[in-house]
Amino acid sequence: MSFSPDRSQASEAAPVTGSAPGSASGAFAIATQGLSKRFGNRTAVDGLTIGIPAGTIAGFVGPNGAGKTTTIRLLLGLVRPNAGSATILGHPLTASPSYLPRVGALIEAPAFYPSLSGRTNLEVLARLGGYPTSRVSELLEVVELSDRARDRVGTYSLGMKQRLGVAMALLPDPDLLILDEPANGLDPLGIIGIRDLLRRVREQGKTILLSSHLLGELEQVTDWLIMLHQGKALTCGSTRDLLAQRGELVVEAGDAMQLDLVARIVSEADYVVTREDRTLHIACPATFAETLNRQAREAGATNLTIRVKEASLEQLFLALVKGDRS
Ligand SMILES: Nc1ncnc2c1ncn2[C@@H]1O[C@H](COP(=O)(O)OP(=O)(O)OP(=O)(O)O)[C@@H](O)[C@H]1O
Ligand SMILES: [Mg+2]
Repeated sequence: MSFSPDRSQASEAAPVTGSAPGSASGAFAIATQGLSKRFGNRTAVDGLTIGIPAGTIAGFVGPNGAGKTTTIRLLLGLVRPNAGSATILGHPLTASPSYLPRVGALIEAPAFYPSLSGRTNLEVLARLGGYPTSRVSELLEVVELSDRARDRVGTYSLGMKQRLGVAMALLPDPDLLILDEPANGLDPLGIIGIRDLLRRVREQGKTILLSSHLLGELEQVTDWLIMLHQGKALTCGSTRDLLAQRGELVVEAGDAMQLDLVARIVSEADYVVTREDRTLHIACPATFAETLNRQAREAGATNLTIRVKEASLEQLFLALVKGDRS
């Protein structure tokens, strides 16, 4: 019998689903409790209870209109909630002067002076915000724009403008960086550029909240994930655990009897199993592989191959939207 995970083994921790444990809220850069926002009859954010651990790259993912930008606007004090509460860097939402100086944000497309250079744009913004202009060169380095820093922003590509926007959000040397769709409109290389940039920023110990409707993009870069749908959090937890939870085991056996035996063990464990010739596909957490391996061996099925396939975020999202909540 062989046991060969396709990817690294699943971690054992269960995901945090939809809520931040109140007692641990100090460890969260952002924690919300029942946060809600209505515009007229439309509920944009609907009782959102989430926690984002400090020091992570957290992804906020959901289709158009899910409430990502509205939540970000709530967190930045740009709109007021109709209900609920939140703490940001340990301060309540209502005390925005205490936390906003430590937050850098970029909401949708950044605005610049197109006739000024990238460097001058940053210097102007630094002066306006009261931040040291001495950081401008370093930030241009971080976003890899040093060689184009003297060119007019009007001549920049979309990706360069996005990177300049991130540099702008980094001007206050924030502990929390909030980026709304930073990869919007970027080509794959541009997306990789933003991804590398975010990793460099995380290495400086900062927390990043990043929204996107591109699931594949977030799967690559986030440590933590919140899936939003119609203003509600479908799930909230470590990206790795969420994917492992929704994995698939592919079991191949030497003969049909052994396969029947495995199918029975799986059904008794209450997981859904589908059969294809000599192969079983089992929808279950990756951690079930070890249990299955042991139980099958004890029952006499010794000629099996079990492979672990982690779910993609897209599969996970679709399963959750269909009401198949974990
Ligand atoms: N100022 C507003 N007035 C009225 N309705 C609004 C306002 N802002 C947002 N909404 C509504 O709230 C809902 C959530 O919008 P939001 O912009 O937060 O979604 P989103 O997840 O950011 O979507 P996208 O991926 O398209 O950016 C939508 O139905 C939107 O029409
Ligand atoms: Mg939006």
